Amino acid sequence: MPKRTLVTAGLPYSNGRLHVGHIGGAYLPADTYVRYLRACGQDVLWICGSDDNGVAIEISAMKEDKTPQEVSTQFHQRQKLDFEGLRIEFDVYGGTHQPHYQGTHEQLSREFFGNIHEKGYFTKKTSKQLYDPKADRFLPDRYVRGICHHCGDHETHGDQCDRTGAIIDPLLLKNPVSTITETPAEIRETTHWYLRLNEFEQPLHEWLESKRGTWRTSVLNFALGQIKQGLPERAMTRDISWGIPVPLDDPDAAGKVLFVWFDAPIGYISFTAQLLADRGQPLDSYRDWWASDDSEIVHFIGEDNTVFHALIWPAMLMADARHSLPTQVVANNFINFRQDGQELKVSKSSTPAESPVWIEEFLKRYDSDALRYYLTAIAPESSRTAFDPADFIARNNAELVGTLGNFVNRTLQFAGKYFDGQVPDPAGQTDADRQHLAAAGPALEAVGQHLRAFRFRQGLEELMAYARRCNEHFSERAPWASRKTDMTDCAAAIATCIHAVQVLAVLCHPFMPGAAEKMRAQLAAPSTGFNWDVPAPLPAGHTLGEAQILFEKLEAGEDFA
Ligand code: MF3
Repeated sequence: MPKRTLVTAGLPYSNGRLHVGHIGGAYLPADTYVRYLRACGQDVLWICGSDDNGVAIEISAMKEDKTPQEVSTQFHQRQKLDFEGLRIEFDVYGGTHQPHYQGTHEQLSREFFGNIHEKGYFTKKTSKQLYDPKADRFLPDRYVRGICHHCGDHETHGDQCDRTGAIIDPLLLKNPVSTITETPAEIRETTHWYLRLNEFEQPLHEWLESKRGTWRTSVLNFALGQIKQGLPERAMTRDISWGIPVPLDDPDAAGKVLFVWFDAPIGYISFTAQLLADRGQPLDSYRDWWASDDSEIVHFIGEDNTVFHALIWPAMLMADARHSLPTQVVANNFINFRQDGQELKVSKSSTPAESPVWIEEFLKRYDSDALRYYLTAIAPESSRTAFDPADFIARNNAELVGTLGNFVNRTLQFAGKYFDGQVPDPAGQTDADRQHLAAAGPALEAVGQHLRAFRFRQGLEELMAYARRCNEHFSERAPWASRKTDMTDCAAAIATCIHAVQVLAVLCHPFMPGAAEKMRAQLAAPSTGFNWDVPAPLPAGHTLGEAQILFEKLEAGEDFA
């Protein structure tokens, strides 16, 4: 195992609320992974923050009649609360344009751009682009609409044909209209700095090939496929006013900012640097994480971010040549929302504001562990999946309440009632008990193996398989019967089951930290940081804590309608 692992999840744009798809796709698996590594005794940093710059924030602000700073700070704070509510616990939640982080972020971004510029990897080029004279601004592709130049008979947005998905050249659209002001767009010339990605095709290819067997094939196939088609040069500057000014002493750079996808991933580094500075460490100590052979860097992202994390960001890192490349890029697919048999995309415009698919709304009604459980159970690791409210409730009731909660509850209740709330004497343990005790190590190993390989869904399935075996053991040992005939045997059975609850607390902690802590409180077990090891059995005579309900049974309701 490496000495250190730095884990990141894609920085969310701070212009909207988070929904279940964001969480299940990136932040939850990353948080689960971090908790697991820490339980294994690893030194981990868990880095995230908001993506505050760029045109999307600027346009949201324009539409809401606010400043971009107001919009980004408002959503930065709301998203931060969503994460806290879900017990997704970053070491730092920065923001590329939030006061405490902006200074370091801007400085590192300027250095990156300046360094890549000095090394000669940018081409400065003037080209024609669509312009909205009313808004007095150049138009990003997706803010233009016009008649599709492929099909010729329907309107489409300027980035992709809305019908076939084909890439559009916005300059070829017929009757282009700005979707910001709904007025006709004009063509004007503008100058930008383009990163020549084609110069990195070979090193990227070799680097990606070296990841075979450790990265998901979907990510590798996608990235290698793009290289095969040839990587076009991409503009790394933009004609907008919200962002980081282009750090060049060139009149053509005046009034332009860095492309948001240029500065955002640098946020992973700048937030690390700021965090370590806040902890009182020297300014360059971030290099222990970002420029050291002892450190691994793992990025968790949604599928739409793959091109940036598997190609463009690594190309930037290669061009800049001062930091390590990512060790791993874990990309998940999207999670849709199933309603009345239909699969819908969650979106600001079409999903009702009070639907519990929005995290803020969910947390008003349900427990975070229930969501963590369900989103891991349906994790879109190899294809898109759907959040199905009826399935969420059914699985909560059958699996969390009926299996996991039931076992913990019946064990601890029994000890409370018949053993004065103390761990009974294990002296009479049978072969079956010993076999059950011996299953703990392999269960920890099986779950751990899946988590190390980013198979969160299968990790959770192993956990539940162990919980089912625990229930079976309880039933087979029938302590309710032996209580009347053989108290030594009954005590041994319950002591065995109490140990299994200790094991379950460790297993649950990465997935459902709240439930794990409740289990530990009910056991009144000493705080051991949930080490990923078979815990030492609590000694006979140890006084247990108060029994409490682990998971709430849910009624099917109208909530999700
Ligand atoms: N804001 C982007 C999105 O939501 C993700 C940025 S990830 C980073 O799709 F690497 F650029 F930070």
